[in-house]
Amino acid sequence: MKRNILLHPDPRLKKLCAPVTDMTDELRSLADDMLATMYDAPGIGLAAPQVGVLDRLIVMDCVKEEGEPSRPLIMFNPEVIAASDDLNTYEEGCLSIPDQYADVTRPAEVDVRWIDRDGKEHTETFSKLWATCVQHEIDHLDGKLFIDYLKPLKRQMITRKMTKLKRELARG
Ligand code: NI
Repeated sequence: MKRNILLHPDPRLKKLCAPVTDMTDELRSLADDMLATMYDAPGIGLAAPQVGVLDRLIVMDCVKEEGEPSRPLIMFNPEVIAASDDLNTYEEGCLSIPDQYADVTRPAEVDVRWIDRDGKEHTETFSKLWATCVQHEIDHLDGKLFIDYLKPLKRQMITRKMTKLKRELARG
């Protein structure tokens, strides 16, 4: 089931999310809903606070090549446990900040540990787009958006545009 994606600015996008301590069917179906919402958008990553749930859960799939099998990842309590000194700059966007893009520089490679939907622990090294995406999504769990990396003026400009967009959407 598709869920509604919150748009910036929204106080729920600025909150510190709580670790998941018990795997439940409700959480598993939330993760499935988030994947469906992400693919439908379409996007390559989504974090639980973006659908109004303040739990440490992200989903992503950065496979973009035509014909390559998709790789949906569901990550509970994802954590960067090591980051490379090498940096990488990507033009980032966010489903909560539609049509706004900006360059963000982050570690080029990260080791991430997480719990899957069956409660099993995984560790994997991510690079390229996957590394950027997983760091962007984990940031969401700490109430941080990609625009928080930008200069204040640029961030304010984007926030003003978003406030205007939300007002227009509310008017219908
Ligand atoms: Ni985002």
